[in-house]
Amino acid sequence: MKLADNKATLSFSNGSPSVELPVYKGTIGPDVVDIRKLYAQTGMFTYDPGFLSTAATQSAITYIDGDKGELLYRGYPIEQLATDCDFMETCHLLLYGELPNAKGKKDFSRLVTMHTMVNEQMQFFLRGFRRDAHPMAIMTGLVGALSAFYHDSTDINNPQHREIAAIRLIAKMPTLVAMAYKYTVGQPYMYPKNDLSYAGNFLHMMFATPCEPYEVNPVLERALDRIFTLHADHEQNASTSTVRLCGSSGTNPFAAIAAGVACLWGPAHGGANEAALNMLHDIQKAGGVEKIGEFIKQVKDKNSGVKLMGFGHRVYKNYDPRAKLMQETCKEVLAELGLENDPLFKLAMALEKIALEDEYFVSRKLYPNVDFYSGIVQRAIGIPVPLFTAVFALARTVGWIAQLNEMIGDPEYKIGRPRQLFDGSVRRDVAPIDNR
Ligand code: SDX
Repeated sequence: MKLADNKATLSFSNGSPSVELPVYKGTIGPDVVDIRKLYAQTGMFTYDPGFLSTAATQSAITYIDGDKGELLYRGYPIEQLATDCDFMETCHLLLYGELPNAKGKKDFSRLVTMHTMVNEQMQFFLRGFRRDAHPMAIMTGLVGALSAFYHDSTDINNPQHREIAAIRLIAKMPTLVAMAYKYTVGQPYMYPKNDLSYAGNFLHMMFATPCEPYEVNPVLERALDRIFTLHADHEQNASTSTVRLCGSSGTNPFAAIAAGVACLWGPAHGGANEAALNMLHDIQKAGGVEKIGEFIKQVKDKNSGVKLMGFGHRVYKNYDPRAKLMQETCKEVLAELGLENDPLFKLAMALEKIALEDEYFVSRKLYPNVDFYSGIVQRAIGIPVPLFTAVFALARTVGWIAQLNEMIGDPEYKIGRPRQLFDGSVRRDVAPIDNR
């Protein structure tokens, strides 16, 4: 960042002395007012629960222009990465800052492939769960458990350890997600196959059985690879901020990523893809397209507590570019599977059309986000609804670890420790219990 040719002066109506605060510029996007010395100079904190106007860090990884509906990974538009690159190239880009050349891509992909197996002990963690446990409950446990196996890569201040931990996490997430799925359906785990692509390997571990050969469908493989790219990173969203704050204590990267998995599960965040599909199912069951009006009325009634899941975004006040790409991927997969008339996809498109013409959504700049269509395409591929968020976590792991490593790699980083506006009880003394 660099000092902007601008300063902020904070003055107070109660006559307290005003303070001057430096303003910094990034390469693109809003300038920032540096308030790090505000408390020392004024004895006051800023107040911004939900971080509506707060930059918690500087970063060079991902940039979102919410008004334009633009998403850049290391400067490259998501539309180009999703169509001209694959997920391994995107992982290399997010981790190291540049797209690999052919040799670099081959070497990186091979390195990831060589780390896709998990320690055989990992399967015993699964046995403790009920067979109907939610996959995200299982994933929160399994990812945290990885820290028990990699003592040689948990010194996050060692760049080599950070690098191998990143590779291990990217490589093992598909294996763990597939194991969580196989456990819930009572089928044997399938080991990774080193001759398959990252997405192909995941499909194989999910849907193959030891009883017969399994052929990876190249259209589904490409679609899944694109879904991974679309979910790979997204600035300082709730789960990435969780990973950064958790990692800022110096904990090991596997535990920090497990915290990100736990945060992503929430329906306001990554859990929205599961919630969006369940919402479509409910509207379908209630009568389908002709019931959309009734549903929208419920959404607009604040007391109903009903939200249009997969719609709205803290940053995008225009169409989420990932939602457009996801809708295209939906069409490709449904066509490949002969499901062009999939009722849920038609319902989703009708719902989107009606919402985007309704003043309630238009005035609040609510558009479809990445979660609105992702469930339909995952369901068409055969991924069960409760596993959608685990697939999101699989894809987001590279973003989480790239952001964590960026923070730890910055010699100036400190442990995150927000303050508060206290509005509880002033000091008071304990009365003996007989007098309470
Ligand atoms: C992800 O941050 C990221 O980058 C996240 C993510 C990523 O890649 O990491 O993009 C992934 O989490 C996408 C978002 C998935 N969540 C959902 O689809 C759940 C439904 N969406 C909402 O819950 C909501 O839109 C949020 C949580 C996504 C954003 O909420 P904000 O920014 O806090 O906005 P808000 O709640 O203040 O909404 C503004 C207004 C409110 O109405 P008013 O108070 O002005 O009357 O819009 C309304 C909200 O009630 N609103 C919705 C709505 N989303 C917002 N009303 C109905 N349905 C919705 N989906």
